[in-house]
Amino acid sequence: MKVALITGITGQDGSYLAELLLEKGYMVHGIKRRSSLFNTDRIDHLYQDPHDPNQRLKLHYGDLTDSMNLTRIIQETQPDEIYNLGAMSHVKVSFDSPEYVGNVDGLGTLRILEAVRLLGLEKKTRIYQASTSELYGGLPENKNERGFYDETCPFYPRSPYGVAKIYGFWITKNYREAYDMYACNGILFNHESPRRGETFVTRKITRAVAKIALGLQDKIYLGNLEAQRDWGHAKDYVRMMWMILQAEKAQDWVIATGVTTTVRDFVRMAFLEVGIELEFKGEGVDEKAYVTACNNKDYQVEIGKEVLSVDPSYFRPTEVDLLLGDPTKAKEQLGWVPEYDLKGLVKDMMEGDIKLMKRDVDLLKAGHEILKQVE
Ligand code: NAP
Ligand code: GDD
Repeated sequence: MKVALITGITGQDGSYLAELLLEKGYMVHGIKRRSSLFNTDRIDHLYQDPHDPNQRLKLHYGDLTDSMNLTRIIQETQPDEIYNLGAMSHVKVSFDSPEYVGNVDGLGTLRILEAVRLLGLEKKTRIYQASTSELYGGLPENKNERGFYDETCPFYPRSPYGVAKIYGFWITKNYREAYDMYACNGILFNHESPRRGETFVTRKITRAVAKIALGLQDKIYLGNLEAQRDWGHAKDYVRMMWMILQAEKAQDWVIATGVTTTVRDFVRMAFLEVGIELEFKGEGVDEKAYVTACNNKDYQVEIGKEVLSVDPSYFRPTEVDLLLGDPTKAKEQLGWVPEYDLKGLVKDMMEGDIKLMKRDVDLLKAGHEILKQVE
């Protein structure tokens, strides 16, 4: 049985990847951080009985800042494949904790590579490093001649997160070249899902739209509406992570959809999923969105209602204005075919958040009923 070790298993990608590897018959080990609260919501459905000897998912306490702990886990688990997905992954937050991000996202990668090397596993263990489109920094002059970012384009990171991840990128490449290790970078463009963290822009939008549609929230505040991202579905992207480690030769790969969309248009699409049409008025920090039509009888909001404003506190000290990736190499050489387009992604996320918010409403109603009976 193949053995995989996933750092960041409790995150969006880690949870989908664990699901995929279990389906493929792997023994999956995951590293989770010690927390005073439960932090395994995204993988609880995979982890039913930790006492069952046939359970193929095992969690280990650990942290990417702790090399002794990482070395011990790798020694105990002897993985065929390591997926290094653990990171402080929020770009805006990285401006507040630059040193921590350097330690986790940059040096954490080195700790994994060096542990594998010191344990003499460099010929056994294949390593996937979660690199990112943030490395490109969105500089227009660095795109290829077709206007996309691909594996040949230069990097120019624009945040402490991007700078830490560039260390992770190069140290992975260096260990591949220096020690002939099978270590690859997946340069993944933004990917989202119903399991996306609540403070990333897509999930912040779909949660707020669901609440507004159900009358639980008045409006949403966002930052830069002009930013453009190449958004795919996390389920498609974790499949690609696995495919990258099955390739004959260790290489670096760009994974993207090849379509870019503004934050403003994502908002429009999310509202349209519940039949609400918007008009945007004003510019810059004064831009607002108003409801112009409600075409779904279940989601009726007052026509003319202001549902979006800009809050400059969400602006970043340096911004990545536009990301657009060219996944040709991955498609041609690995045969990657994504199942979701942007519309499918928005639909999946909106369905997830409507269901979640309705459940909250039902719980609230049930609570009121119980109170009434007690009174
Ligand atoms: P995520 O949901 O934020 O998950 C990050 C994971 O890393 C969580 O399990 C988190 O644990 C863990 N983690 C954080 N700090 C850690 C530490 N010090 N030691 C060990 N684990 C730690 O991120 P994601 O969207 O799944 O992304 C997965 C990876 O791909 C990240 O490295 C990210 O930077 C990279 N990436 C993501 C995208 C994207 O669009 N999603 C694109 C390109 C690259 P807790 O649950 O305890 O917080
Ligand atoms: N988070 C957030 N919140 N972003 C906002 C908001 C807001 O209220 N309003 C506008 N934005 C803009 C940001 O300024 C950025 O330009 C864009 O929306 C996307 O922001 P995020 O969803 O936070 O993602 P990101 O692109 O910065 O980073 C994500 O993708 C990277 C790959 O390109 C993260 O998943 C990174 O870990 C990943 O490497």
